[in-house]
Amino acid sequence: MIDLQDVAHTLLRSGKGILADDETDVHADKWLAAHGIEGGEEMRRKFRNLFLAAPDNEKYLSGVILFEGTLTQKADDGTLFTELLAKKGILPGIKVDQGLEPFPEGGKETITKGLIGLPERLMEFRAKYGTGFAKWRAAITIEGTQLPTAQAIHENAKRLALYALEVQKAGMVPIVEPEVLLEGNHSRLRAREVVAETISAVISSLEDQGVDITGVILKTSMVLSGNKSGKMDTPEEVAEDTVGVLLENAPKDLAGIVFLSGGQSTEQATANLRAIEALAKEKNAPWPLTFSYARALQDEALTIWQGKDENIPAAREAFITRLKEDACFTLADSAC
Ligand code: G3H
Repeated sequence: MIDLQDVAHTLLRSGKGILADDETDVHADKWLAAHGIEGGEEMRRKFRNLFLAAPDNEKYLSGVILFEGTLTQKADDGTLFTELLAKKGILPGIKVDQGLEPFPEGGKETITKGLIGLPERLMEFRAKYGTGFAKWRAAITIEGTQLPTAQAIHENAKRLALYALEVQKAGMVPIVEPEVLLEGNHSRLRAREVVAETISAVISSLEDQGVDITGVILKTSMVLSGNKSGKMDTPEEVAEDTVGVLLENAPKDLAGIVFLSGGQSTEQATANLRAIEALAKEKNAPWPLTFSYARALQDEALTIWQGKDENIPAAREAFITRLKEDACFTLADSAC
């Protein structure tokens, strides 16, 4: 019998965080293209290899969220990525949602797909590849006071809870990710309202479905002004609203909370995490908090790498430096 709290606590242990390396093939190719790198199966494998096989990543990573296609891919030395991670003491996790679709059809909001066949997929991922945790992402759009609608929040919350229940039944820890999108001209105050409403709906749905909250990790957006608002929030402002909204809406017995970077620059995501961790300690927040970034951990390295083998050492050095800095804030007695 798997103790889900143990697994969650292992993922959230201090000094470490979780790498989200789970872009779909389409998104990975787009991201590589944005860095001038031609995509395709082999280049995506090299891209995963750059980060997953980076020496010393185990010092700062407790887990990595993988995309399904990566489960069968191998590192340069022929080891399956999942086995390589396990050998390093990094727990492999798996993104199990199957993307977004308009909600309702033709609308601007979205709902996340992937519940059909989920129990069978979870069993296979766990038995064949040793995945210990899973992730499901919902996306919440802000537009003035019209969006999000209560229906979109509630339908997404319900699906997150149904997903979490199946993941726990399969003996894995669910990461529940209701991402409140950065896109838009909304204020930070409006973002705070929406994050509050979203987290509170997700927690109610988890409780309604009988999900064990002590074995759930919440993955949330930081509270930020929209990226078209013309406002650049200071780390102190972000921390005040983010820690505030979490203390008001996240139950204290959640296993822990991790942050996505959501399109912030690498430096912004690091500075905001630092301020959030400091304020959370000051306020004695009841949960462990850490990062679960994709772009804000990998962007600098991709810019250096350019898809070329000779650039791998320098790209990895940039990745490890960023990881080390972000991970340091999660230490109890950090002097980062
Ligand atoms: O689903 C989103 C990822 O888990 C986090 O990605 O840090 O680039 O927002 P991000």
